[in-house]
Formats: sequence, structure tokens, C-alpha cells
Amino acid sequence: MSVELCVPNPRAVVSSLGGGSAEEAPQVDISIETKSEERHVDIIDIRNGRQPLDLAPAIRAGLQHRNEHGHRTLPSLLLWNEQGLKLFEEVTCAPAYYLTDTEIALLAAHSHELARQIEPGSGSLRKTRLLLQAVEALGKRVDYYALDLGQLFCDDAGGGRHCFEHVRCHGLHGTYDDGQVWIARPENADRPRCILSLGSTLGSLAPSEAAAFLKTWAEILKAGSGSRVIIGLDGCKDAAKVFAAYNDPGGANRRFIFNALDSANAHLGYEAFRGREWTKRGEWDAEAKRHVQYLVALREVDVPFLDDEQQQQQQQQVVPVTVKAGEKVEVGSSYKFDDEAKERLWKESGLRVARQFVSEDRSYAPDGDV
Ligand SMILES: C[S@@+](CC[C@H](N)C(=O)[O-])C[C@H]1O[C@@H](n2cnc3c(N)ncnc32)[C@H](O)[C@@H]1O
Repeated sequence: MSVELCVPNPRAVVSSLGGGSAEEAPQVDISIETKSEERHVDIIDIRNGRQPLDLAPAIRAGLQHRNEHGHRTLPSLLLWNEQGLKLFEEVTCAPAYYLTDTEIALLAAHSHELARQIEPGSGSLRKTRLLLQAVEALGKRVDYYALDLGQLFCDDAGGGRHCFEHVRCHGLHGTYDDGQVWIARPENADRPRCILSLGSTLGSLAPSEAAAFLKTWAEILKAGSGSRVIIGLDGCKDAAKVFAAYNDPGGANRRFIFNALDSANAHLGYEAFRGREWTKRGEWDAEAKRHVQYLVALREVDVPFLDDEQQQQQQQQVVPVTVKAGEKVEVGSSYKFDDEAKERLWKESGLRVARQFVSEDRSYAPDGDV
């Protein structure tokens, strides 16, 4: 596991899960406690059109077609509804889920150093809190924005339950795309910004997609000066350790992945998926250096879909997609970045690594072996 402090090449830039800058916008109140008074964390709704995400077309397309690995898919965004965010917190607390503890240890060891160079961005506040505390200790006036798909994350992750005098916390409710539009606004470009991506979130994208994702942020933000990107990346190549993290015996990962079925039903508006017909399976894909979470059909399953025309006409005819018994439907993957993959990532995204903090445990080091 490593935490990388990056700057744009050749000028400073920023990326990922939330931006730091100040601005006025519509707010949703969340009360938070401080030492002496009630304060508010404002949640700014930056969603395009303020509409909930409609994943129905992506669900249908993913089941009808196979991806480059030969699998049907369900969109990984299904995982991140309010219930999914809570279930993911349980995953990160499972003893085998080494990513969170390792990253916390790195941040705890280096947060003061990082804080001198950054204005914090977002992520799970369980970890980010360490950075915010370091910034707070320096007496730096910082606006901290946590960007995520739901509103609860800010409250549930403990967003407000900390006592800061200098650090002001905000939530941005929207997608990464919404965040990029928001941060590109002129009023958000007048201060140095730091974008923070923790939890190996970039690892949920294929390496080329991760590079494109970073590059987009970098392009938007290189207009500003003094901006930084802090990225937590997992480079663990110990297959057994990785497998254990995503397949805990307590079933936290299972519950998290299974929630995609309920989430899909909610998006479709009817019960297309029945939990009893599926099981979860995690696999380490050594060739692509990724762990993949699948839902596997326990028997032949007909997943009913209304086609677009029928949906418009509200006809109740169904067009099923047949998933064979034992067939795997890919729900999410976690890519692991070794040195070579990281180098490629920086090069393709136009970032230059200014500092790198790598965990001491050799199994997390970029050159660890299986
Ligand atoms: C792997 S978790 C990491 C959470 C946190 N950074 C951590 O370190 O524990 C990924 C997070 O990204 C959010 N997310 C995923 N896709 C997103 C998107 N397209 N737009 C906004 N947030 C997204 C999820 O809701 C989730 O909170």
C-alpha cells in the first residue's frame, strides 16, 4: 500500500474523490457537534439536474453483452447506494481488510508532512480525519469537501463529529463527473486545491480508465497553482492476502456485493433479481492483477427486462436475459498497482510524484511477491 503525493507535470494539478475550495451553493443541513457550539456541515447538491442516477439502461446493457474479460456485468455503481455505503464500512472494519488499516498507519505517520503541502480533499473521513487533524493543528484555514453519491456518508462516516476550528467541512452530493464540473467553475479556481483519493478507489477502475480519470482532473485543475493530488494505491501482490480481504469469513463482503441485487431491483422498479438464485464468488485474476467480485447464478436464471419501447408504453411484456447455471456476472474489481503500473499511471495522467510513502510490511510493498 502506498500514499503518493503528486503534482501535475509540469505544473501543479489535482484529482479524485472530492475537491477543496470555497463557494456558496444550495445546502442541506447536517448538524455536527463542536466543542462549544452546534455547527453545520453543508451538503452541496451538485448533481446534474438534481436527478437520482438511473442505472436501468446500464444494468440491461451489462447483462446483454460481455466485457473484455468475457463476462456479463452489473454496474459497480449499484454497490454505492446508502445501504452499500454502510455495508462497505463493515467491509473496511473486517480484520482481513488490510487496506484501511495500512492506509491509516501511513497517514498517521505522515499526515503532518502531507498537511503542510495540501488542502485536504475527501474520502472516508475515518482516514481523512487524520489529515484534517494535522491541518487543524497547523492552524491552517481550509475548506474540506467530501464528494460522494449519497448524503448519509458525510454523517455516517463521522464527517461532522470532530472538533475543528480552522477546518470547515462540506459535503458534495454528486458523481465524479458532477464534481469535475463543479470544481471547474471559476469561483472554485482561485485557491490552491488538493484532491485526495484514498482506499485504492482508483483501483476499481482498469488502469487505462484510472489514467484517463486522473488526467481529466489534472486538465481541469492545472489552471490553478499550488494544487496537489494525494492518492492511496494498493500494490499488494500477495494473492492469499488479497483474497482474504475481499472474502472475509464474517460475510461483510458477501453482504456488500449482494446488495447490488437489491439496488438493481430498485433501479429497475421490479424484482428482476432474486437473491436465492445467486451466490457471491471472489477470484484473484493473476494476469490482470485484480481481484474480481462476481455474482454467480446457482441455476439457469431468466432476468426479465422490459425493452425501451415497452417501458415507454408501459407494457408489461418481458424480454429475459438468460444467465446459465454457474455463469459469473462481474460486479466490481480491485486492480493492484505494482511499480510498473504506477509509473504508467503517472505518465499517462500527466502527474509527477513528489513524495511517496510506502507501508513497511513487505507484502504491501510494490516489489512484494506472491
Ligand atoms: C472504495 S470506496 C472508498 C471510500 C473511501 N475513500 C475509503 O478510503 O474508504 C469508493 C467510494 O467512491 C464512491 N463512488 C464510487 N463511484 C462514484 C462516482 N461515480 N461518483 C462519486 N462517488 C463515487 C463510493 O460511494 C464510495 O464511497
